[in-house]
Amino acid sequence: MSAADPTLVREAARRRTFAIISHPDAGKTTLTEKLLLYAGAVGEAGSVTARKGRKSATSDWMEVEQRRGISVTSTVLRFEYDDVVFNLLDTPGHKDFSEDTLRVLAAVDAAVILIDAARGVEPQTEQLFRVARARGIPLMAFVNKYDRPGMEPLEIVDHLTEQLELPLVPLTWPVGIPGDFRGVIDRRDESFHRFTRVTGGSAAALEEVVDVENEGSDPAWATAREELELIDVDGAEFDEDAFLGGEQIPLLFGSAAWNFGIGQLLNTLRDIAPSARPRATEDGELRPVDQPFAALAFKVQANMDPRHRDRVAFIRICSGRFERGMRVTNARTDRTLALSFAHEVFGQDRVVLDEAFPGDVLGVIIGGDVRVGDTLYLGAPVQFPPIPTLTPESFVTVSNRDVNRHKQFRRGLEQLDQEGVVHVLRREHSQDPVPVLAGVGPMQFEVAVERLRTEFGADVRTEMLPWQAARRTDAEGAAKVLADPGHTDVFVRADGTQLAVFPNRFILDRFAQRNPSVRLERLIGAD
Ligand code: G4P
Repeated sequence: MSAADPTLVREAARRRTFAIISHPDAGKTTLTEKLLLYAGAVGEAGSVTARKGRKSATSDWMEVEQRRGISVTSTVLRFEYDDVVFNLLDTPGHKDFSEDTLRVLAAVDAAVILIDAARGVEPQTEQLFRVARARGIPLMAFVNKYDRPGMEPLEIVDHLTEQLELPLVPLTWPVGIPGDFRGVIDRRDESFHRFTRVTGGSAAALEEVVDVENEGSDPAWATAREELELIDVDGAEFDEDAFLGGEQIPLLFGSAAWNFGIGQLLNTLRDIAPSARPRATEDGELRPVDQPFAALAFKVQANMDPRHRDRVAFIRICSGRFERGMRVTNARTDRTLALSFAHEVFGQDRVVLDEAFPGDVLGVIIGGDVRVGDTLYLGAPVQFPPIPTLTPESFVTVSNRDVNRHKQFRRGLEQLDQEGVVHVLRREHSQDPVPVLAGVGPMQFEVAVERLRTEFGADVRTEMLPWQAARRTDAEGAAKVLADPGHTDVFVRADGTQLAVFPNRFILDRFAQRNPSVRLERLIGAD
């Protein structure tokens, strides 16, 4: 492939790869469905949830997901709209699975922050926002549930500006108060969009573009115009560079349930969300999209389909053209592997893909060793920086109850560790054979136990350990921590990271004060 492959450059330019980040219940599932509906990818909203209901083909551990009514696994949705190819990466809503979201954020080019109009910025939204911001991802915000009583528009702008500490630029402005939502003014072309509720919201809302001159006598439109004048006085203008640099957040209003404002969000993503851009490599260079194939594996998942017992790596193409059957090298192992069966994943359904371009996210079935964070490339070696991990806050021991299944137990743990379901820790300074699992929250352990049982036939018992705070340290630090009379310990992750663990933040701080020279680094999300 030559560097001047015009098809590749054109295809990369029409990719929009993004995620929606939100607190549970803000309406992410509903919004996702409505985006698909408006893009014409599904005929009727509800089909994605209907797919969710068709669980027979998914493995048992997803029962955790069903039982809890939460989304544990991320799904990639790919759809075309107006000559743009969208890759929408779903993110789990529950806090205990935040590390999955972190990985997804390593694979996207933009993110939509979804806010409930009544609740504003909630803890999970804020945490994910901080992570996205640290990565410099361009962000836009969608204020949802405007059909219900909530904060008034100016109040929301103030609230978001205060919480997110970034300038917000309303691109649309709601007409009517929350609970009595009539439509939006699109500030970009001064058009008034009047919405009419469609029962059930399964079809696109009746949307009427009203002439400015003919707005009629509805006082709600007059109020909206007055509010907009205040916004104009504030000088909040959209600035593409500031948005692309993650320094300004365009804001839109709507109601996913009633299909209000969805078309505008979709068009905005089409118009301003960035296409695949040059990506920084480990050595600090920026790799242009028209370089030979290179992709980042940001998620690995085994046994998605018990009938196939396969392992799928979700890869984000950063440069070059993907062709089915190509042999690539894994930068970590230096081994080659064939990307034979590439799938685009739509909910639980898979469609085989023959070629894909920068920005695309696809599932490849792999036989060999591919882990989260691996770089797969063609040609000269290249490696993308590791995906950051969250500071673990929960720890358990995990022991095997059936000695005859020891091998399966070990294999299962290794698999879960490679997928990043939990981090499996070992003690470097002790012979204690009982592995320790570390995670952000207890639900991760629940998934691990369930998967060990259903996929590996290993009956395991977990026991909570007393640590709640952890820091990365080095060999010297580890020795100091181990010599400390407090109830501290040191563990090693599979990637070699040494983790010093402490019963609580207070004891950690006290230790740090007494040992100022010891290296104690926060990972992302540390308290
Ligand atoms: P999530 O994926 O972010 O967790 O949220 P989800 O879409 O499941 O939405 C959570 C609840 O909020 C759902 O109600 C959904 O219908 C509702 N919702 C989403 N968008 C809007 C909106 O624009 N306006 C209003 N009024 N409600 C909205 P539920 O009662 O939990 O479920 P359901 O019975 O409606 O499916």
